[in-house]
Amino acid sequence: MMKESFDEYKDMVNEYLLDYMPAIDTKSSVLYDAMKYSLTAGGKRLRSVLLLASCEFAGGKAIDALPYACAIEYIHTYSLIHDDLPAMDNDDLRRGIPTNHKVFGDGMAVLAGDGLLTTAFEIMNKNMFLYFDNLPELKKRLNASYIIAANAGVRGMVAGQASDIDSEHKQCSNEMLEYIHLNKTAALIVASIKAGLYLGGADDDMMENMTVYAENLGLAYQIADDLLDVTGSVEELGKNVGKDAKCEKITYVALNGIKASEEKLSELTMNAVAAIEQYYDNAEFFRDLVLRLKTRKK
Ligand code: IPE
Ligand code: IPE
Ligand code: MG
Ligand code: MG
Ligand code: MG
Repeated sequence: MMKESFDEYKDMVNEYLLDYMPAIDTKSSVLYDAMKYSLTAGGKRLRSVLLLASCEFAGGKAIDALPYACAIEYIHTYSLIHDDLPAMDNDDLRRGIPTNHKVFGDGMAVLAGDGLLTTAFEIMNKNMFLYFDNLPELKKRLNASYIIAANAGVRGMVAGQASDIDSEHKQCSNEMLEYIHLNKTAALIVASIKAGLYLGGADDDMMENMTVYAENLGLAYQIADDLLDVTGSVEELGKNVGKDAKCEKITYVALNGIKASEEKLSELTMNAVAAIEQYYDNAEFFRDLVLRLKTRKK
C-alpha cells in the first residue's frame, strides 16, 4: 500500500537520514560537520522518495527500503558538492546556503563528497549482512546496490559529469547533449526507481515499464533544470541562475532555445505518463509526480 503523498516519504527520509552517518573519530569531526552540512541543507529528496515509492508500488514496505533510499540521497548530495567545486561548475550557493567548499574549503569539500559516496555503500552492505540466511531477500538487495553502483559510476552519472565539463565552450550535437543528460542526471533517477522495484519484488513487466517512465522523467528533470537556470529565481531555486550560459555549458536551452525545450519537456512527460498507463489508479503517485515536476519552480 503506497503512502498518500510525496511529503510523507520525504519526512521519512529526513527523519532517518542522519542515523545512517557512521561514527567518525572526533579527531576528524570537521569531516562529519562537512558531510552533515550538505545532507541537512534541505533538498527535494526526489531520488530517495522515488526509491521508497517504487518499493511500495512493487508490493514491498518503505521501511525495508530506507537504507537504500538514504544511501542514494548520500550519493546525490556528494554529486552536488563535487559539481559545485571551483574545478567543476564553481557555484557558491546550493539549497539556499553557501556551497560546501565555501564553508569548509575545497579540500574538505572533496573529502566530504568522498565520505558520502563511500558511506552509501557501507550503509547498503551493512543492511545486506542481515539477510545472509535469506537468499531471495539478499538477492533483492544485491540487485538494488548493483544498479545504484552502476548508474552512479563510470557508466552513468560520473561519465555524464565528465562529458559535461569536457563539452564546455564547445559546439555540440543534440546526440551529445542527450548522452550527457541521460547520464549525469537520468541515470541516478533510473537507479532510484529500479532499486526500489527490486526491493519490492517487481516482476519483469513492471521493471520494463517503470524503466521507460524513469528515463523519460530523468531526462525531463534535467531539461527543466536547464530551463530554470534561464527562467527561474535564485530565491525559489536556492542556487544561482544564469550560470550555464556564463560557463558556456551544453544545455537543452542553449542548443534548442526555450520554446523547443518546453515542448521536449511536455513530450517526455507524456511519454512517462503513457509508460505507466496500464497500472491505472495504482500509478497515481507517479503520474502526479511527473506532471508536477514539469511546471516546477524549484
Ligand atoms: C540538482 O538536483 C542537480 C540535478 C541533477 C538537476 P535536485 O534539483 O534534485 O537538487 P536538490 O536535491 O533538490 O537540492
Ligand atoms: C548536475 O547538473 C548534475 C549532477 C550530477 C550533480 P547541473 O550542474 O546542471 O546541476 P545544478 O544546476 O548545479 O544543480
Ligand atoms: Mg554541473
Ligand atoms: Mg552545477
Ligand atoms: Mg543546472
